[in-house]
Amino acid sequence: MTVLLRDDAEGIARAGSWLRAGRLVAFATETVYGLGADATNADAIARIYAAKGRPRFNPLICHFAEADGAFAHVRADARARALAAVFWPGPLTLVLPRREDSPIAALAAAGLPSLAVRVPAHGTARALLNAAGTPIAAPSANRSGHLSPTTAAHVMAGLAGRIDAVLESGPTSVGLESSILDLTTGDPTLLRPGGIPIEMLEELMGPIRRCDDTTAVIAPGMLRSHYAPRLPLRLEALAPDDSEAWLGFGTATVRGRLMINLSPRGSLIEAAAGLFEALHRIDTEAADLGLQGIAVAPIPRQGLGAAINDRLARAAAPRG
Ligand code: TXA
Ligand code: MG
Repeated sequence: MTVLLRDDAEGIARAGSWLRAGRLVAFATETVYGLGADATNADAIARIYAAKGRPRFNPLICHFAEADGAFAHVRADARARALAAVFWPGPLTLVLPRREDSPIAALAAAGLPSLAVRVPAHGTARALLNAAGTPIAAPSANRSGHLSPTTAAHVMAGLAGRIDAVLESGPTSVGLESSILDLTTGDPTLLRPGGIPIEMLEELMGPIRRCDDTTAVIAPGMLRSHYAPRLPLRLEALAPDDSEAWLGFGTATVRGRLMINLSPRGSLIEAAAGLFEALHRIDTEAADLGLQGIAVAPIPRQGLGAAINDRLARAAAPRG
């Protein structure tokens, strides 16, 4: 059974002690809801993979209340410390060489010599990290291959009965996962575009290499069809046809049977925050209406638009 816990002092204390006891608790971060487990407890980590139906080789992000806590487990160079000073707490994940003496379970990083670390900004996530008193490994709280959850209801729809609790906060504010930057080599590489636009990282770091789909799958979450609604997506559409729902952006007026606009005022921040919610809703409602697909308006590619287009391209990729 999955218990819904209130996002108050009592609920957070309970969630913290459950995590320490090796149980699985989903909680809000500013990006998406995460499925948390004690990162030092390999059994608990294994239950995350089982609950998600996630392939074992896919490593998890470890969450910390403070940068110092994170840097106790990885070797942070000057670049990592500069980024942390500016962007933590916040939607940036750094992949760094793991310290040999770190008690984090090898399974959390799927046996890799590196570790992905992040200090989330969400008040509940930080309170929970302090209550648990241990690093929390947390992938997005969805079944593997499904959409990332931005509300407690999304988490319940995918994982009820498979995890111990969901700490119920409101919808997440950023709405897309964190940006993942690999700093294990001299050549910083963006493994996943996300909540911090690459332009902002480059202002601090200089040029960053983009990891494209043709390279080896370093971040397995980058598998092409990772974000999969049930209905096929048609991108860069100018209007829906009779059999399609419409996912719009900006002011262009179109007619259709089911229409959701990510941001009528053309804000990429608003569109990012609502993207997964809109895909969840449109996928369910379009199928109920007998629609066959989802037409998606063109969305600008600068700033958060890079991450939004990345998620849409994955959602539209052939399944398999
Ligand atoms: O915003 C987020 O990052 C959310 C919240 C809950 O923090 N978490 C999240 O986790 O999106 P997940 O597991 O859905 O995606 C983590 C990604 C995966 O693509 C994984 O392959 C990559 O991070 N990753 C984790 N550890 C890695 C490592 N050591 N090296 C390379 N990639 C890694
Ligand atoms: Mg995920």
